[in-house]
Amino acid sequence: MTPTMKLLFLFGACLLASQATSDLVEKREDLPSVDGVGPDTEVDGIPVKLLSPEELDELLNEDDRVLIPQLDIEASKKLVLSRSSKTGEVRRKRWIGLAFRAGRALFTGARRFRTTFSGARRTTQYVKKGGMNNARRDFNRFNPSNRKPINGRYKGETGTVGNHRVTVRNGSSDGRSTLEIRSPKENGRTNVRKFRYDN
Ligand SMILES: *[C@@H]1O[C@H](CO)[C@@H](O)[C@H](O)[C@H]1NC(C)=O
Repeated sequence: MTPTMKLLFLFGACLLASQATSDLVEKREDLPSVDGVGPDTEVDGIPVKLLSPEELDELLNEDDRVLIPQLDIEASKKLVLSRSSKTGEVRRKRWIGLAFRAGRALFTGARRFRTTFSGARRTTQYVKKGGMNNARRDFNRFNPSNRKPINGRYKGETGTVGNHRVTVRNGSSDGRSTLEIRSPKENGRTNVRKFRYDN
């Protein structure tokens, strides 16, 4: 290599390196918003103050990916147990895959757009399509236990899926039909997920 080539090579390498670094430190503009982070805020035992925005975003994705099969299993458990409750024997059913995937169906087509930390509560909001019809369908897929009607300002229904409380309402402070999942966590923490259904 001639000295000029060496210099050009070095220059090129530096340019590449600086680009790689700026990619790492640059905050992506399209990340869902996060509010209320304090010095003690954590997600699954991980202090949020030690995470980059991208890492926090990925952690919140992971937290959803963990919840989905938990909800699927709770909904499936109830469905399978209900098969034998009357006759005491197992009745054969054809494949009922959709009912086994109540959690997955809820998150399908949902876009997370905001997470708010407030004390021991984390509230995450998602947007979906389909208005109250889809909200009710997503609710019914869970076949929640202890169902009760809601007769406040907005009408709807509430019930439980394992230790999660699932509530559907035909309106909200946000204006849209909303399905809410309230999940108690260890240390008295609660995760609330609100799915807003666009018409
Ligand atoms: C919710 O449902 C009730 C009862 O059907 C109805 O009177 C009310 O207008 C609905 N609210 C909204 C925001 O759609």
